[in-house]
Amino acid sequence: MSLKKNTMQKIAVIGCGTMGLGIAQIAAMQQHQVYVYDSNPIALQNAKIKLQKTLDSLVEKTKITNEQSLLYFQQVNWCEQIENISNCDLVIEAIIEDFEIKKQIFAKINLLVSPQCIIASNTSSLSITSLAACVSHPQRFIGIHFFNPAPIMPLVEIIPAIQTDTNTISTATAIVSNWKKTIVQAKDTPGFIVNRVARPYYGEAIRIYEEGIATKEQIDQIMKNEGGFRMGPFELMDFIGHDVNYAVTETVWKAFYFNSKYTPSFSQKRLVEAGYLGKKTGRGFYIENESKDKLIEVDSELSRTVYERILCMLLHEAADALYYKIASRDDIDMAMAKGVNYPKGLLQWADDFGIEKCVSILDYYFDYYHEERYRCSVLLRNMANDRINFYN
Ligand SMILES: NC(=O)c1ccc[n+]([C@@H]2O[C@H](COP(=O)([O-])OP(=O)(O)OC[C@H]3O[C@@H](n4cnc5c(N)ncnc54)[C@H](O)[C@@H]3O)[C@@H](O)[C@H]2O)c1
Repeated sequence: MSLKKNTMQKIAVIGCGTMGLGIAQIAAMQQHQVYVYDSNPIALQNAKIKLQKTLDSLVEKTKITNEQSLLYFQQVNWCEQIENISNCDLVIEAIIEDFEIKKQIFAKINLLVSPQCIIASNTSSLSITSLAACVSHPQRFIGIHFFNPAPIMPLVEIIPAIQTDTNTISTATAIVSNWKKTIVQAKDTPGFIVNRVARPYYGEAIRIYEEGIATKEQIDQIMKNEGGFRMGPFELMDFIGHDVNYAVTETVWKAFYFNSKYTPSFSQKRLVEAGYLGKKTGRGFYIENESKDKLIEVDSELSRTVYERILCMLLHEAADALYYKIASRDDIDMAMAKGVNYPKGLLQWADDFGIEKCVSILDYYFDYYHEERYRCSVLLRNMANDRINFYN
């Protein structure tokens, strides 16, 4: 089998943990030459074994042939020395989420690659602009944010830094589109699209639970039954891991200058402190193997109240993201449907639910609690006044 001609032949992936290995697999399966570097040789060894296992299982499932598996595996060069990435055309960094450590690695990469090489970060929470400032020619720096597991999740957020030039945006977008990913473009603000807009799904659910309005089991059931979400908020947080989910919430909250909409919760903080991280440790909000599927009694009034409260907070967050030009209407809707599997885009959902109804529910909670977090998005209010929808 001959190599497909890729406009960008050589891709470096820095860090081969959960995300780096997934990104390396995608690039290898698109027949790029891939250079994977990790500062930990054991991580490199483990990643090599894992990739082989993944390819073997794809062969077993007849998704790829033996020949393809061999070819893809051979596309990956496992580098113990970072110098081996010097000829790459695109470098994607996926190391530990620590600004100082990332800064050091970008300083090294900067000395090795050509000024034309695009340098990207897969960071979930750091400012792309601050990372771009770590390299010379920052106009070739960009955020390319994959979702976990990268080979399976279709969405990729492209985040230009304020220094990034249009050529870098179009080249990065073209490469990732070739990898059959759905691309959305986001402004460089905390949480980009998905990690910002999804916050109320967790935060408002925990708030309702902490106030004793409904139990976690009831809330999970309500959001699945009424909203059609695949997982309830508590199941989902257990699945994601409380260390990860809490860290994202806390980072977004701090990065938004402690905006109370994003305030983290003590319930989740205590779980992290106890090491009850969810599925990966066997215990989070739920204890693993505890039956979560039994049907719980929820009266219809409670069901409607909980569903509408969480939904309206989500709709408000999506509308605010549009109002502040974080992304386009279509990209915000695409991001939530493809990045976190929401049953439909939130702006479309706002139209279907009724924008006036959404505004009056948010106003009710604002009047009730006198808290900033329930202040309705000005965009929603203006649209309700003008009786217009996001879509026609
Ligand atoms: N895990 C997720 O769900 C997820 C989703 C999207 C984005 N991200 C982002 O992707 C990045 C990586 O996350 P992850 O979950 O894959 O982490 P991980 O802990 O699984 O892997 C990190 C890897 O980086 C390596 N590493 C650490 N310091 C290094 C250095 N100085 N030089 C080279 N290698 C180094 C480690 O040995 C490890 O193999 C982070 O920026 C994270 O925010 C994570």
